[in-house]
Amino acid sequence: MSELTLKNLMFRYKNTNQDVLSNVNFTFESGKLYAIVGPSGSGKSTLLSLMAGLLSPTDGEVLLDDQSYKSLNLDQLRREKLTVIFQAFHLFPLLTAIENVSFPMEINGLPLAESMPKAAKLLEEVGIGSEKHRRYPANLSGGEQVLPMKDKTLSNA
Ligand SMILES: Nc1ncnc2c1ncn2[C@@H]1O[C@H](COP(=O)(O)OP(=O)(O)O)[C@@H](O)[C@H]1O
Ligand SMILES: [Mg+2]
Repeated sequence: MSELTLKNLMFRYKNTNQDVLSNVNFTFESGKLYAIVGPSGSGKSTLLSLMAGLLSPTDGEVLLDDQSYKSLNLDQLRREKLTVIFQAFHLFPLLTAIENVSFPMEINGLPLAESMPKAAKLLEEVGIGSEKHRRYPANLSGGEQVLPMKDKTLSNA
């Protein structure tokens, strides 16, 4: 059972004089669904970026299964264990649907001969049939563009 822990987490953007987050302590358990709610500007996106290792805390730390992010390879962590679905889809517009899904696996060292069939299978699992695999994101509906990203298996397949 994985746990993501925030320990005395503090964050302040550079060249500002106000803490966005101060002394945040919380443990997220795997298999549970959490909602972080607050008014605009209250620090939700900052918190998510810290949890994803996209920002480093000003003080305190983030730990995955008791291992501090400071001691982890964060690029590898994001490729293999956790991902963020941004409000914008951030698909590669010049790659087809199947290439968009295959690409992270290729970066992870999987040869094309393995990543492409895997990508095809994953797309089909989320309801995108083979006739759409070679379409560019612009030619898919908004729902179809975000579907594969909702399935975490795509990021660590
Ligand atoms: N790059 C930045 N530099 C300075 N201040 C920022 C930056 N990004 C966000 N902020 C400020 O940090 C606070 C929290 O922002 P954010 O985490 O985006 O809030 P939320 O996602 O809850 O709307 C806001 O006051 C915002 O203006
Ligand atoms: Mg936000």
